Amino acid sequence: MPPANRALEGKAAVITGAGSGIGRASALRFAQQGARLVLTDVHDAEADAVVRAIAQAGGTACFVHADVSRRADNERMIDVCVERYGRLDILFCNAGITLPKLLSHSSDEDIDRLLAVNVKGPLYAARHAIAIMLGQPDGGVLLFTASKTGLVAQTDSPVYCASKGAVVMLAKALALDYAARGIRVNALCPGIIDTPMLRQFADAMPDPGAAWAAYRAAQPLGRLGTPEECAAAALWLVSPEASFVTGVALPVDGGFTAM
Ligand SMILES: NC(=O)c1ccc[n+]([C@@H]2O[C@H](COP(=O)([O-])OP(=O)(O)OC[C@H]3O[C@@H](n4cnc5c(N)ncnc54)[C@H](O)[C@@H]3O)[C@@H](O)[C@H]2O)c1
Repeated sequence: MPPANRALEGKAAVITGAGSGIGRASALRFAQQGARLVLTDVHDAEADAVVRAIAQAGGTACFVHADVSRRADNERMIDVCVERYGRLDILFCNAGITLPKLLSHSSDEDIDRLLAVNVKGPLYAARHAIAIMLGQPDGGVLLFTASKTGLVAQTDSPVYCASKGAVVMLAKALALDYAARGIRVNALCPGIIDTPMLRQFADAMPDPGAAWAAYRAAQPLGRLGTPEECAAAALWLVSPEASFVTGVALPVDGGFTAM
């Protein structure tokens, strides 16, 4: 495809949790569509491998180690994007962790860590990104990876569900606050997607084999989703093709939340 037709040609983007799963697939897809990327993760080797794959394919990406639970790390990854590429067009807050425990089994530390990564991370990053985007004549786009569990509850993960519900509402609230000032904000709500996170989650269940069978059976489309299917939806949400779309929590869930 000629560069002029690429959806993100010339855009500068930050993606968190880019070393694995949905973040990795999105990084590869955004780069293929012309975006210049800052990829962040806590697992340096995995994210570095994504940077190398993008470079080998002729794209532009660099890695910044950033733990999204830390305000300073969120601000630094965004500052690196501006220093390197001169602007920040897209912030994709995708990093997240799970907590497959009943509330009665969740320690203070469990709760603090989960909320720090899944909720405070996007808050810190969005606050810094918005300040920069407001100074750009053409604004920018924020995208948060929430979850179907931000729309409908599931058993055994109350703190995770609460965190993803918070992210959905963060996207909607920011969308309203900045709609008139050129910043679009949306949430991606994956269903059950075959990523390392899901494997870790399933393997923590009392009967992992039964958990996998139940995941497949639970989806109207009869199979798990792929990271690439989430990346395709993410690409559309951050691209100019979605220029009239803001405040949306888009399920990518094989029909799960239609039930
Ligand atoms: N896989 C699913 O079924 C599913 C469903 C709904 C929502 N999600 C959400 O999708 C997002 C991506 O998950 P995934 O399934 O691709 O998982 P994954 O585990 O494959 O990838 C998550 C990435 O985030 C990174 N990460 C974890 N903690 C971090 C931190 N503190 N700072 C920076 N990076 C950190 C990990 O190192 C990893 O590379 C998460 O927000 C998750 O909650 C996943």
